[in-house]
Amino acid sequence: MQKVKHEQWASGFTFLLAAVGSAVGLGNIWRFPYVVAENGGGAFVLIYLAIVIVFGIPLLMSELMIGRGTQKPPVAAIQQMAHQSKASKLWNMLGWSYVIVPLGVLTFYSVVAGWTLDYAIAIGIGSLNNLQEGDSAKIFQELQDSPLKLIFWMTLSAVITIGIVARGLKSGLEKTVTILMPALFVILVLLMLYASITGEFIKSVAFMFDPDFSKITPELVLMAAGQAFFSLSLGAGSMMVYGSYLNRDISIPKMAVGVAFSDTLVALLSGFAIFPIVFAYGVEPTSGPGLVFVTLPIVFSDMGWIGQLFGFLFFLLLAFAAITSTISLLEPMVAQLSEGEKFSRARAAIYAGAAFWFVGIFVALSNNVLKDVHPLDFLPLFEGMNIEAVINFLAANVFMVLNGLLVSIFAGWAIKRSITLEELGMGDSMLFKIWFMLVRYVVPIGVAFIFYDVVL
Ligand code: PFF
Repeated sequence: MQKVKHEQWASGFTFLLAAVGSAVGLGNIWRFPYVVAENGGGAFVLIYLAIVIVFGIPLLMSELMIGRGTQKPPVAAIQQMAHQSKASKLWNMLGWSYVIVPLGVLTFYSVVAGWTLDYAIAIGIGSLNNLQEGDSAKIFQELQDSPLKLIFWMTLSAVITIGIVARGLKSGLEKTVTILMPALFVILVLLMLYASITGEFIKSVAFMFDPDFSKITPELVLMAAGQAFFSLSLGAGSMMVYGSYLNRDISIPKMAVGVAFSDTLVALLSGFAIFPIVFAYGVEPTSGPGLVFVTLPIVFSDMGWIGQLFGFLFFLLLAFAAITSTISLLEPMVAQLSEGEKFSRARAAIYAGAAFWFVGIFVALSNNVLKDVHPLDFLPLFEGMNIEAVINFLAANVFMVLNGLLVSIFAGWAIKRSITLEELGMGDSMLFKIWFMLVRYVVPIGVAFIFYDVVL
């Protein structure tokens, strides 16, 4: 198929580091634990695992296949696949969605990445020591109420992201993930060991793995699917563009399983780093998004110097996890803009970066200066949502899911079977047939149901 004209990952392992770096992020360490806690623990984890296997892996394979098969960024990749399969030109629009949606995600993701930088430094220099009752919630609220602080940290996370992506695949992305991913893993295991030894480990196991089936409701399935899509970086171009730097002799099914497995493992490990401490201190795990930013600092402050050390490590871990994801969110648009040397990589990174940074400012202001601005109030679905909520909902709950739905139809129905057969390299085996059946019927129908439920 396509001749290789651009840089490629040094090896399958480097690709895995990068793709797992994209998948593992705030979604795993910040969001997963509180969503599990809010949705009844074990039942949620069980449904989540099922969705990763039935929807996640087949979709990951599809996105990687489109990228690798064409060796091109999303717009060009989908265009070429459609052309080779004599499919409709309308599919080109899907390619554009695959590069614009990640920029949308970046606008709010980089704001939260900014919080993690703020917290890492605050805990590191000891300003979160000796917290008294109510202090922690107040400190978090103060950050939300400080437009300049939020914009500063968001800008810093944007500058880091743009700087890395501008340097290109080898000296930018690859170098970053080979340093940050092992560091991230070591910190996470350290935290988990510490939490399990000193905290309520057994209780946490029961909480996460003992499902109460009566808690399984359509809403829970919906939450689990949304979490799985977000966590696996599906429907947002990152996996497709990372796939385009993959060498042709590397197995896509193996890589997809590797990414899904590692991402899920990190989500569960994060649970084991957080819940044992939460239970040991008798604090509520259902405190929502504040679980990590409000509850944990109280616990760390209570543990003296060791708490300061582990607290610093924890927020550093979050910051690293966020950066290896933000670079994968900027890469699709940058790869697209610099395709065919239209723009240099650095220029493309600055243009795309400036675009998300600019919108990111409005997101950073959503909970303070602009908190009463509800841009889509005239639509019932968006009533009462501030700017951040609208962008977050549109990007993560509408367009990522819609992209996933369309890409499964694209892979299952539009791309010629002979092409998928060759790309996936499994022969016409049972496994190929299972993948084919999943992307043709199960994923589109399942995701369409979810989508219907969320949006309509
Ligand atoms: N998977 C990342 C996380 O769990 O934090 C977020 C993400 C990255 C979503 C890249 C989408 C994406 F394309």
